[in-house]
Amino acid sequence: MSKLKNDRYLRALRREEVDMTPVWMMRQAGRYLPEYRELRMKAGDFMSVCQSPELACEVTLQPLRRFALDAAILFSDILTIPDAMGLGLYFVKGEGPQFAHPIRSLSDVKALSVPDPLKSLAYVPAAIKTIVRELDSQVPLIGFSGSPWTLATYMVEGASSKQFSKIKKMLFSDPATLHLLLDKLALSVIDYLNAQIEAGVDSVMIFDTWGGVLSGDCYKEFSLAYMQKIVEGIHHSAHGQHIPVTLFTKNGGQWLEWIAETGCDAIGIDWTCDMDDARRRVGDKVALQGNMDPSMLYAPADKIEREVQRILNQYGHGSGHVFNLGHGIHQDVPADHAGVFVDAVHQYSRSYHQT
Ligand code: CP3
Repeated sequence: MSKLKNDRYLRALRREEVDMTPVWMMRQAGRYLPEYRELRMKAGDFMSVCQSPELACEVTLQPLRRFALDAAILFSDILTIPDAMGLGLYFVKGEGPQFAHPIRSLSDVKALSVPDPLKSLAYVPAAIKTIVRELDSQVPLIGFSGSPWTLATYMVEGASSKQFSKIKKMLFSDPATLHLLLDKLALSVIDYLNAQIEAGVDSVMIFDTWGGVLSGDCYKEFSLAYMQKIVEGIHHSAHGQHIPVTLFTKNGGQWLEWIAETGCDAIGIDWTCDMDDARRRVGDKVALQGNMDPSMLYAPADKIEREVQRILNQYGHGSGHVFNLGHGIHQDVPADHAGVFVDAVHQYSRSYHQT
């Protein structure tokens, strides 16, 4: 594999010295970019963008043309796995993802099979190969998956949810069925991420968007245990390099010590957790990614810059910090505010890396 021209992101994940703090944005490709909206209109629906290697590649590269980002993230979705399992994914405007055939019973779970990533998900490694070629070693490419728990919330609820009443009912009244589902999902995620690694991604991230709706005990048993299985099951080296894994549980700030124990390389931090506190608690074990409130991008430029400086100062001197938003960028923020954010990270972080 060719040597990366900018490997700041991978160096920070390994907690090696960098010249400035690397930065990328969760959901950096998407609807806040006019060029994405235009391509998406022409393509028709969201999944056909994901399923076309050329379109997925184009959309992955769009934010890199505008901003000095230190990593690209594969354009896809976490719901590709349940879609490949036959649940019938579709999107309703304004309501988010929905499944035609949600999971409600033990027999539904038993009927699911682990998808072969080179068959029903073959469009994902195909997109990765195209992106790697087009990126031409400018920056690393991040692959990703949802956590088993987060995937299960969509599969059991059948759509986005606020209360999570159906999956919590399953958790408390029929935990064996939920464990069987989570187990199948963990195996699916391992195969899927290994196929992404094989196809050429430089690191992987697991999005546990909904782990934070659980109590600590339930988080350990129904979310963290399965992410741990994935950390243990994926290939940590490929193409002659270490493949770092980042775990991100939104609202998981109270469990950082547990997350760090999984053997992951980095933890994603949302804005409800202070970076100095996070670093004190786990910074000798893992790198940290985060954590500006994505809503801060509604603020004027000078305020965004001050907030970036505040977070850099909170993390402090030395490597091990990948700057990011604490969750995905909102679709209605001005695109140039994202540029202010990225440039501010580079500009103000240099002094934290002088040895
Ligand atoms: O970060 C990136 O730029 C890569 C692409 C990416 C998407 N989804 C594209 C997308 C990634 C990493 C995801 C992850 C994802 N998808 C998560 C975990 C991260 C998080 O934000 O918590 C979750 C929970 C999903 C499920 C999902 N997919 C939702 C809730 C939605 C939004 C639905 C809506 O209409 O608002 C999607 C669709 C989706 N995924 C879009 C994009 C750009 C919007 C689709 C469109 O163009 O209409």
